Amino acid sequence: MEKPIIPTPDFYAYPSSPLDSVLLDDRFALLGWADGTTLEAFDFWLRENAVGAGGVDLATREGLLDPAELHDGIRMLDASIGDDGSLHIRWAPDGVEATYHSGWLRHVADGNHRPDSWLPDPVLWTAATLPEPPTHEGAVVLEDDEMFGRWLEDLMRYGLSRLRHCPTDEHFNIEFSRRIGAVRDTNFGPIWDVKADVQMAGHADTNSTANTNLRLGPHTDLPTRETPPGFQFLHCIENEAGGGYSTMADGAAVVEALEVEHPEHYEALTTLNWIFFNRGPGIDHRWSGPFIDHGVAGSPLTLRAFYPVRGFPDMDPHDMPRAYAAMTCFSQMAASDRFQIAYPFEPGDLVGFDNRRILHGREAFETGGKRHLRGIYIDQDEVRSTARVTSRRLAAHHRSVQV
Ligand SMILES: [Fe+2]
Repeated sequence: MEKPIIPTPDFYAYPSSPLDSVLLDDRFALLGWADGTTLEAFDFWLRENAVGAGGVDLATREGLLDPAELHDGIRMLDASIGDDGSLHIRWAPDGVEATYHSGWLRHVADGNHRPDSWLPDPVLWTAATLPEPPTHEGAVVLEDDEMFGRWLEDLMRYGLSRLRHCPTDEHFNIEFSRRIGAVRDTNFGPIWDVKADVQMAGHADTNSTANTNLRLGPHTDLPTRETPPGFQFLHCIENEAGGGYSTMADGAAVVEALEVEHPEHYEALTTLNWIFFNRGPGIDHRWSGPFIDHGVAGSPLTLRAFYPVRGFPDMDPHDMPRAYAAMTCFSQMAASDRFQIAYPFEPGDLVGFDNRRILHGREAFETGGKRHLRGIYIDQDEVRSTARVTSRRLAAHHRSVQV
């Protein structure tokens, strides 16, 4: 007869990892595995994670216990290890019994519950180490889960990943986004055009520098928001213009080099604030923040680097000379051959990049012609969620294949 499956506080299938020891020590259950791994599990936390026993709802796998209901009478009466290595706890004062899956406990002991787990570590790059974007075939990524996972891994690791030979249909970008997550809408709309009939004289009638024939220096989009869009996906539908190569630089690598080589500029860019300002009929988006924003521990890096929408220094006037000097140094480094790569943007290319880490831009056009890109934003939360799910699904698949 098949053993009953012990439900866990989420919807993942964990491989069993039998406990070797359990000891109650005041408010903690001290759990041990044969390889020396340990976990100090606090009583209220275990009670909150008792699936189907008042802690976690079996249907939603969400917590049921309001902290207001926790009281000192809730205590572990005894703890034991089941035949399958799971943890069994009997609770006072209600006599509730709860069983905890050994593999689920083990994933916490291993730190695999943390937001950065199941995501690849970032790899910082320069023009020498990554002369062109990591590239995948669009049709293969669209149809094959494993290849989709690899493309997503590259996107997380390098902050940049390109698909080639995608359809040039105007709706392709939105359709593709369904594989990743909800699109982040802005005042430019859920999908926006970078459209220029490059005439090589004067500017198009437009509300964005992106729609002109000018060079666009390395930048990040929408620093005017409290949380700028996490990722940007640009799809090339048509490009007859000459020149106008796309440029990319790994802002995280520039930040790392700046800290070592110009610590005074690093200090100025991480501590002095600027007000960024999207101006237009009916809109007034403003946010004040440092050029280099590390956020709280665990936050993705946010670079606020877009001179067309940088409105005002938000600092003591005495700090302005060093603030400008620091910004100039950073921007020169980002645009240098050491950090910046340039490559043609061809119809059917879809380039995804971390809008808060990667500095993107465009060289000036050399000859005229039609150029049509369509872009969408998707927030970090969406991309990270899909990357975790994909990577866990692929890991489970490989485990079952190996068995
Ligand atoms: Fe941009």
